Amino acid sequence: MIKTPVRVKTFKINGMDVTGKSNSTILEVANEHQIKIPTLCYLEGLSCVGACRMCLVQVKGSDKLIPACTSKIKEGMEVITDSPIIENHRKMILSMIFAERTHTCSVCVSNGHCELQNSAIELKLEHSLVPYIHKGFEIDASHKDYVYDPNRCILCTRCVRVCDEIEGAHALDIGFRGIHAKIIHDMDEPWSQSQSCTSCGKCVQVCPTGALFEKGLSATEMIKKKNIITNLIQTRANK
Ligand code: FES
Repeated sequence: MIKTPVRVKTFKINGMDVTGKSNSTILEVANEHQIKIPTLCYLEGLSCVGACRMCLVQVKGSDKLIPACTSKIKEGMEVITDSPIIENHRKMILSMIFAERTHTCSVCVSNGHCELQNSAIELKLEHSLVPYIHKGFEIDASHKDYVYDPNRCILCTRCVRVCDEIEGAHALDIGFRGIHAKIIHDMDEPWSQSQSCTSCGKCVQVCPTGALFEKGLSATEMIKKKNIITNLIQTRANK
């Protein structure tokens, strides 16, 4: 059998010549070349939805910023991953995420292991640039092993995607709109009453913050196992 040669594209990231497979995204090629682009909703092994906009980058010749996680590479393009404009956008995006909920790190199970917290530290964001509009959500602690705290949820939908794409249960979804949006189980049932949840816990492990966590842990104790997805994909491929 004649193998089709893998087509590659050559372009620049921050002035450096890079190559990537023709259907790759900017983020994938950047990762392959150890060029750091901040992300929150992206997780290797899950589909990309471009929800958080933390990965915005500039392409020379365009006055728009584009998400690196969903934008395919193009031959000859020149990508800039860091500039004062990009940094300001990322700070504003983070500010809006913080302003919508209560992310009080000191009492959070994910303190010290939180991707949102790490992003804020990396961007040196010490306070929100926009006023807080947090409305306060009820916590769902009805499940025997897990808790969902919408007050710490950034609506990245990793949990929704892992439940649908990897576990095949699709027990989770986003319910409601705007500031009222939150993750729901089935038709917004208490978690313990969800008919489709398999209690696999994958949603908990991929959550970037302390919104989903295991019961019985106190502040700083929840360390997520995000490589659960790539490990599972690898195991399935080897069968
Ligand atoms: S990581 Fe690209 S939009 Fe969230």
